Amino acid sequence: MKDIFDNPNFGEFNLNSRIVRTGLWESQNESQKNLSADIFLRYETLAKNNVGLITTELISLYSHDRFSDYSHSINSPLFIKDFKEVTSIVHQFNVPILAQVGFVNCNVNGKQMIEVNDLTIEDIRKIQADYLVAAKKVAFAGFDGIQLSIGNNYYLSRIINPFENQRTDNYGGNTYNRVRIAIEIIKLIKKATDLHVNCRVNLYQDMEDSLEICKILAENGADSLQITKFLSPQYFRKGQSNQDMLVEFCDKVASEVSIPVILGGGMSDMNRINNLINDTSIDFVSMYRPFIRNPEFLSDWKNNKSSVSECRTCNNCYWKKSSICLINDTK
Ligand SMILES: Cc1cc2nc3c(=O)[nH]c(=O)nc-3n(C[C@H](O)[C@H](O)[C@H](O)COP(=O)(O)O)c2cc1C
Ligand code: SF4
Repeated sequence: MKDIFDNPNFGEFNLNSRIVRTGLWESQNESQKNLSADIFLRYETLAKNNVGLITTELISLYSHDRFSDYSHSINSPLFIKDFKEVTSIVHQFNVPILAQVGFVNCNVNGKQMIEVNDLTIEDIRKIQADYLVAAKKVAFAGFDGIQLSIGNNYYLSRIINPFENQRTDNYGGNTYNRVRIAIEIIKLIKKATDLHVNCRVNLYQDMEDSLEICKILAENGADSLQITKFLSPQYFRKGQSNQDMLVEFCDKVASEVSIPVILGGGMSDMNRINNLINDTSIDFVSMYRPFIRNPEFLSDWKNNKSSVSECRTCNNCYWKKSSICLINDTK
């Protein structure tokens, strides 16, 4: 019988639990591009309260991107210094940590907002080179791995999406070609670093094609996958039935690939998660808003003080781009 708090292996790591913390906005960072004491404290709180694996908030590959005001930047002069502090804090509690690196708008080689079908080979090489430099910085900062944001609406997910990619060269057309840019990035990172490479990848409209994407990534160097979806305001509200589709798809992926697969959110109930990990092939679940609501909730679950997150899934924190709960009531 599996349990959230048994100590599963996840690739080369042994985890304190099956729960992965996903981050998103680092709005506390808006005015000063270095990490504040609050942020260091948040990582310490997460790490000492039974999380299995941490992914950071978004780290923008490019400084002037759609969300760069609310994210960290790989180009910050203080990136390595600050994140060395973060990684050493969480490692004290034997928690591995991955740096989530992505970009939304493609502004490279002096051009702005390049559409997927207009990318030149030179542009593709520039993006790949930038990811390689980012991965080297991530390794210097002491991270255990990197998460490539190739899901949600990040730019690389748009290259993979058959509805957006109409290219006729080696980077378009069949599924392998659409995933090629990501595979080449994974290979570059593996050659230059020892980082674990996780891919945050979408369930697109076409489930068969989405499964094929996951298999191709797994067979071509990805060390683990986190399954998510294009998001709409309604998507991750309580009781949304399309959450079941994500579970169904994630179960299918986990049963067909030989690397760890993380269900990307929508869970808030310990008993439901324990049922899921015992009744399906899913072994790991990531959570985002429950940690914003209460970064210590996993300790409460483990110590039988509660078993359901008090997050109301109102999404106010998401829309305000905050990593702090905006519902002010008693916990
Ligand atoms: C309305 C909404 C939109 C989101 N959009 C994004 C996004 O564009 N990129 C991203 O990395 N995460 C996004 N997230 C966060 C994550 O996808 C997170 O995994 C998701 O909230 C599910 O986890 P949770 O149910 O534990 O919060 C969004 C979350 C919400 C609630
Ligand atoms: S603001 Fe709403 S969605 Fe965000 S953590 Fe608080 S209750 Fe949950």
